[in-house]
Amino acid sequence: MPDLRHHRALVTGASSGIGREMARQLAAWGCDLTITARRRERLDELAAELTAAHGVEVRATACDLASPDGPRALYDDVMAAGEDVDVLINNAGFGHYQAFEHEPWEQLAATLQLNVTSLVELTHRFLPHLRAGGRRAYVLNVASIAAFQPVPYFACYAAAKSYVRDFSEALAHELAGTGVSVTCLCPGGTYTEFMDHSGQTLGRVAKASMRDAQSVARQALLATLRGRRTVVTGWMNVLSCFLTRFVPRRAAAWSSVAVLGKPAPARPELARAAIDVAASDPGPDGREPGPGSDHAETE
Ligand SMILES: NC(=O)c1ccc[n+]([C@@H]2O[C@H](COP(=O)([O-])OP(=O)(O)OC[C@H]3O[C@@H](n4cnc5c(N)ncnc54)[C@H](OP(=O)(O)O)[C@@H]3O)[C@@H](O)[C@H]2O)c1
Repeated sequence: MPDLRHHRALVTGASSGIGREMARQLAAWGCDLTITARRRERLDELAAELTAAHGVEVRATACDLASPDGPRALYDDVMAAGEDVDVLINNAGFGHYQAFEHEPWEQLAATLQLNVTSLVELTHRFLPHLRAGGRRAYVLNVASIAAFQPVPYFACYAAAKSYVRDFSEALAHELAGTGVSVTCLCPGGTYTEFMDHSGQTLGRVAKASMRDAQSVARQALLATLRGRRTVVTGWMNVLSCFLTRFVPRRAAAWSSVAVLGKPAPARPELARAAIDVAASDPGPDGREPGPGSDHAETE
């Protein structure tokens, strides 16, 4: 079992799914944590759970990373708390399975901000701290198996994840030998809230390769600590990502629709959910504005 006492991880998207399971696993290995997402109540519950179970120091801070101000505000918040982060986990993300032309622009802009720009900005801002002192430090960026091919109806989301994969692998090369490793996690379908928010309906083939968030998180963290550059979860996904190399891209796009199916008719109220939580009013599910919103409220 890895010993991460005297380390601190910053985990984005820790209020549910893979990020929450990563936080649980890291805490079990003795790692102190700064956890962030928009839903403050969820973060507070998780912080209390992990401190009670493992005696680690966990600080929760709400932040909207779909806002252009989010990453800077989160960075300032961590600096103000005097936290020395040496494990940066850029996990927060979302995407809607819908025809490009049916998505409101604000939704697409938020998808790109959250999945790409915020991830890159956080990496850029924290990198000097990760490198400080020549110690061992880790970046884990969460992409998707969608990074390996064009995915119709996930056009922006899949392209964003391709960006994350290419960015991470290039940065891993740049940082080789510095003590900072960069790992890109490419999960396949994983049972989390992502499935509800994305509006996907799973067919037989897609269901067959689904994994649980706990095993995905554990596999990703172990690979990160080993300094692996890319991790694809699940043997069916490993195989399909490998075979995609030999398939014309047009055929790859066709096959992803064959597996994922056509999207349900557009539901603007679902698509707007991700934007609305960035507004100032706390939602019914306890989401609230963080340092990245106009009405920032940090700890
Ligand atoms: N589940 C899958 O099948 C799958 C497959 C491939 C890749 N992935 C990737 O895995 C990562 C984790 O997703 P998941 O499956 O664990 O989904 P999830 O359960 O929906 O978790 C997403 C996390 O991101 C946070 N988040 C969403 N929008 C945010 C915003 N604007 N600002 C800050 N935080 C935000 C959410 O918290 P709040 O809502 O509280 O803000 C939540 O903690 C994502 O990058 C996703 O793209 C998932």
